[in-house]
Amino acid sequence: MSILVCGGAGYIGSHMVLELIKKNYDVVVVDNLSNGHRELVDKNAKFYTCDIRDDSLMDNIIQKENVEAVIHFAAFSIVSESMIDPAKYYDNNILATLSLLNTMRRNKINKIVFSSTAAVYGEPESIPIHEDNSLRPINPYGETKLTIEKMLYWFDNAYNIKYSILRYFNVAGADENIKTGEMHNPETHLIPIILKSILENKKIKIFGDDYPTQDGTCIRDYIHVTDLAIAHILALEKLNKTNKSEIYNLGNGNGFSVMQIIKTAEKVTGKKINYEIAPRRIGDPAILIASSEKAKKNLNWQPKFYEPEKIISTAWNWHKKLFLDKN
Ligand code: UFG
Repeated sequence: MSILVCGGAGYIGSHMVLELIKKNYDVVVVDNLSNGHRELVDKNAKFYTCDIRDDSLMDNIIQKENVEAVIHFAAFSIVSESMIDPAKYYDNNILATLSLLNTMRRNKINKIVFSSTAAVYGEPESIPIHEDNSLRPINPYGETKLTIEKMLYWFDNAYNIKYSILRYFNVAGADENIKTGEMHNPETHLIPIILKSILENKKIKIFGDDYPTQDGTCIRDYIHVTDLAIAHILALEKLNKTNKSEIYNLGNGNGFSVMQIIKTAEKVTGKKINYEIAPRRIGDPAILIASSEKAKKNLNWQPKFYEPEKIISTAWNWHKKLFLDKN
């Protein structure tokens, strides 16, 4: 029996594959390589270049590999892009997930761990954010993830497909042994942008210093990608045991401002970061901090890399390696 990882050649997916392999799971990856990188997938996983909308190829793979559960990362995730081109997000995120769920129905697979996001909350009504906070996305990306969450609810109700929905906060860092890491093109996330600016001798923009926070810059809850991947395994194991659908936030419960992250990156790398203040970015809430108490309690999840120094230093090792390989 094997676990199917959809989007396993992406940033989070490739860390997921690594952790599953470490735990001796049989892992099968499907990825259409629109954003993923084949070389990031651990060699011990079976890999298929396949779009999850390709029903007949998906049926063949699932039957050949004896798949028992699905972990689904295959999605577009750039908030600003979703504002400009929502159709791309409705198509790739919602329609493709509908195909995947129908494939699961045809093949009688009834367990899925789904990659959702803090973007389903929009501008939060209270901090820290609990799973039962209001769901009011303020961009198409968050809207598409919320639509899928609702689809999962009704598919459980009607077809008995059980799910674990994981709402990620700000995922960062890289595998401790730098076997994989973040490689987005274009890169939009703060930590890799800071680290690449050092290596490429560039200036970064801070999007707004007039937010209602202590130093005026936005506060986020950063979670290490390996801690996140481990939470998926715990969620899947819990689902197998209880057969009960659940929703969990995944963050560290601590907020750090953009300026604090810049200062920490300077400390970790020993380099000065060149920045300028730019206007606010559309759709950025001032503060996003998770309550992950439910995941800690129900899944017995204990993040290992909760300090921003550790998160940034693993990312720094990865980006230095990428830079050396390129030059
Ligand atoms: N930022 C900058 N300069 C940059 C890049 C980012 O100042 O060059 C700031 C942003 O304005 C924000 C913070 O750094 O205040 C973090 O930005 P990221 O782009 O790294 O991450 P987001 O908080 O925008 O995104 C995260 C997840 C999304 C999710 C979103 C919910 O990555 O999947 O939170 O708001 F949708």
